[in-house]
Amino acid sequence: MNKGKDKAGGFSKLNKQQKTAWVQEHGLSDDTDLNKFLSSYQHINTDVQKILDGFSENTLANFPMPFGVAPHFIINNEEYVVPMVIEESSVVAAASNAAKFWKTRGGIKAEVLSTIKLGHVHFFWNGPKEKILLFFEVKKEELESDCEDFTAKMKSRGGGILSMNLIDMTEEKSGYYKIEMKFETCDSMGANFINTVLEKIAAKWKFFIQNAPNFLGKEKEIDIVLCILSNYTPECIVRVEVGCPIQDLGKFSNSISAEIFAQKFYRAVLIAKLDPYRATTHNKGIFNGVDAVVLATGNDFRAVEACGHTYAVSDGQYRGLSSCTMDNGQFKFFMDLPLALGTIGGLTNLHPLAKLSLKILQNPNATKLMEIVASVGLMQNFAALKSLVTTGIQQGHMRMHLSNILNQLQATEKEFAAAMEHFAHKLVSFSNVREYLNHLRKIGLRN
Ligand code: MEV
Repeated sequence: MNKGKDKAGGFSKLNKQQKTAWVQEHGLSDDTDLNKFLSSYQHINTDVQKILDGFSENTLANFPMPFGVAPHFIINNEEYVVPMVIEESSVVAAASNAAKFWKTRGGIKAEVLSTIKLGHVHFFWNGPKEKILLFFEVKKEELESDCEDFTAKMKSRGGGILSMNLIDMTEEKSGYYKIEMKFETCDSMGANFINTVLEKIAAKWKFFIQNAPNFLGKEKEIDIVLCILSNYTPECIVRVEVGCPIQDLGKFSNSISAEIFAQKFYRAVLIAKLDPYRATTHNKGIFNGVDAVVLATGNDFRAVEACGHTYAVSDGQYRGLSSCTMDNGQFKFFMDLPLALGTIGGLTNLHPLAKLSLKILQNPNATKLMEIVASVGLMQNFAALKSLVTTGIQQGHMRMHLSNILNQLQATEKEFAAAMEHFAHKLVSFSNVREYLNHLRKIGLRN
């Protein structure tokens, strides 16, 4: 390693060993042997490692996350075992418990309401707005037909451009317009397709404006600022729902009856509709489930989250995404969620575990995957609210937390059982558990 090279200039050109050595030299304050440490986080199959390295830049190793499954999901009368990637304890268990609860109460009903994706060409132009609006209408067909070579394949799969409109944004800012395009991208998430079409449309639009015979002087000037899909897809929506007669909800912890449970649950959902502070945590719980499946199937969880949060604030106040009704003795818990997902293209076919996840899900198409992902979100939310309005969230959480601490402290089976009993009604903290284990070890209870 070149000792004198103390800036990150040309860093990206170094090979993995050189990058590791560079970080060893510049980024570590202790004497950890980084190369040795990271070598156990390389895939044993070098071909697979090459694929993983290719997903990002400056990769040194892999960052393992738990890959688990939540069984018991009945969605539209079909049973699924759902793969989930998440680092938070209790999430997978909660999803699967909630799914099991609803398995004997008719399962989850899911329906994709629409699958439209959006993209925009944002630009500035100065002149009479009627002139440009009319000109766009005249040129619209030509703009679209100019992309035909590129859109033909998507068209043959049943997708392509659905519509194209010029939207006047001049009330927001003088001179600001956007071309809004709607797309059907079938089983792909569609980001590359949409962005390519938008860039082609923008180039042609610029050409048309610059060469428009009745546009004069400044009217021939257009500033195309950016062409990009929108991750907000309020017309790419799935509806998921569970329900049963209130008395069929059964009995809950702390002797809570079905009626009391339903009432408290209804109010918990209502509170998330009314209070943005609660709504944020409520929706975070939904995304615990959603993100975990989105990640496991190689989809873009940042896009899905961004979209969900924008949707949650669509009437001007941030609100809980799920809803609950109790009409005529019938309990109904449901949610409409915007989700732009793919089952072909991108990471879905490249990441070996994403491929496996889709296989475990019986190779769904994109709409089926939307139904599965939203179902997990709804179940996650049901599980969290069920705990919150009955035992409180900490009981279940703390058991998992305790078990993580015990594993970390390499507790034996006997110590594990003793600690579980000891901490059933006591405060779990790392230092408390360590102290208790030390005590057990002192009195000789280990094996
Ligand atoms: C924790 O990750 C998620 C919850 O806080 C969600 C909720 O409060 O609804 C339990």
